[in-house]
Amino acid sequence: MQRGCSPVNHIAPVRVAAVGCGYWGPNVIRNLSEVPGFELAWVCDADPARLAPVATRYPTTRATTRIDDIFADPTVHAVYIATPVSSHYRFVKRALDFGKHVLVEKPLATTVERAEELAEIARARGLTLLVGHTFVFSPPVRKVKELIDSGMLGPIYYVETTRVNLGLFQKDVSVLWDLGPHDVSILNYWLNEVPTHVSARGRSYVGEALEDVAFLTLEYPSGILAQLQISWLAPSKLRRTSIVGRQKMIVYDDLEPVEKVKIYDRGVDRQPASFGEFQLTYRSGDILSPRLDTTEPLRIECEHFLECIRTGRTPDASPQSGVDVVRVIHAAERSLRTGGSPQPVYEPVAAMEPTP
Ligand SMILES: NC(=O)c1ccc[n+]([C@@H]2O[C@H](COP(=O)([O-])OP(=O)(O)OC[C@H]3O[C@@H](n4cnc5c(N)ncnc54)[C@H](O)[C@@H]3O)[C@@H](O)[C@H]2O)c1
Repeated sequence: MQRGCSPVNHIAPVRVAAVGCGYWGPNVIRNLSEVPGFELAWVCDADPARLAPVATRYPTTRATTRIDDIFADPTVHAVYIATPVSSHYRFVKRALDFGKHVLVEKPLATTVERAEELAEIARARGLTLLVGHTFVFSPPVRKVKELIDSGMLGPIYYVETTRVNLGLFQKDVSVLWDLGPHDVSILNYWLNEVPTHVSARGRSYVGEALEDVAFLTLEYPSGILAQLQISWLAPSKLRRTSIVGRQKMIVYDDLEPVEKVKIYDRGVDRQPASFGEFQLTYRSGDILSPRLDTTEPLRIECEHFLECIRTGRTPDASPQSGVDVVRVIHAAERSLRTGGSPQPVYEPVAAMEPTP
């Protein structure tokens, strides 16, 4: 079904509707309401109790429990979707079919085929489809990208990342689909490549079927290994990543109030010794913490959404990056089901149905 909405012009505000006023949606809705150039036209949640406080906060915005009211409004140019993961495909597809630009929370969809289909619809209709890989818009993550691209780390050996806390247990997806997209999107963005193979082990300790703890190993074409630990079942919240390069190392700790990124001038050098043997020398130099922009990542994400709608540029968190993340998580899911054996990211995609 192909329908249109009134075209975006460069003077009038872009009218955006937000669907999903649960835990996460209101954070983005606040930013959409504050970014000049957007007009928050509708807020929507199927649950009136979730909708009510948000509707009260934006008294000039229309409120509804029926998502179809939004699709049927031809004056709505763009839709923000923050509903449960299992509903993303259905709602994004309908929004695109109605000619709306879309910002959808991660992950784009729960199968590779569906993610690719959405990317193709957006491309064919010339609509912006931005995947809410929030961390790609986070100043410390962008600073690390800048440092990696500058070459100051030297060749990167490996990356290790921990994203654990107590809860929030999701009802429709495992921790793999809930927390995994954050780290995979960050790593793919930093390294500018997509893993070739993924292996994963995980367990459902508290729930019945959906894993609440998972350990992933990603192998990138450049040879970089990345180790990811994700969990809803941990004594304290940790958001810590180490990137180990030959020249320098970086620690990115998102929970640090100010010095979220630290560059360590540390390493081990191999020096030739006698009789063809090598001697290791350890380097332990300064620790540097670069100044970071303090803008809220969601503000940057919403401003970027507006810019992409207005100019037609491909979003930094593009549909293709959304497809790549789904591919990696899907491969991890296959690995989980086969006891942790490494699975190719690109083949085969139709071998099994994912859990969500
Ligand atoms: N970017 C981030 O850092 C981040 C953080 C947390 C969650 N998320 C994502 O945000 C999304 C929502 O997660 P959450 O934790 O807020 O979930 P949630 O369950 O708290 O909220 C989802 C809301 O969607 C509503 N909803 C469900 N079906 C609907 C329908 N048919 N029409 C209208 N409303 C409907 C529910 O009533 C609920 O209020 C997920 O995709 C999640 O992955 C992103």
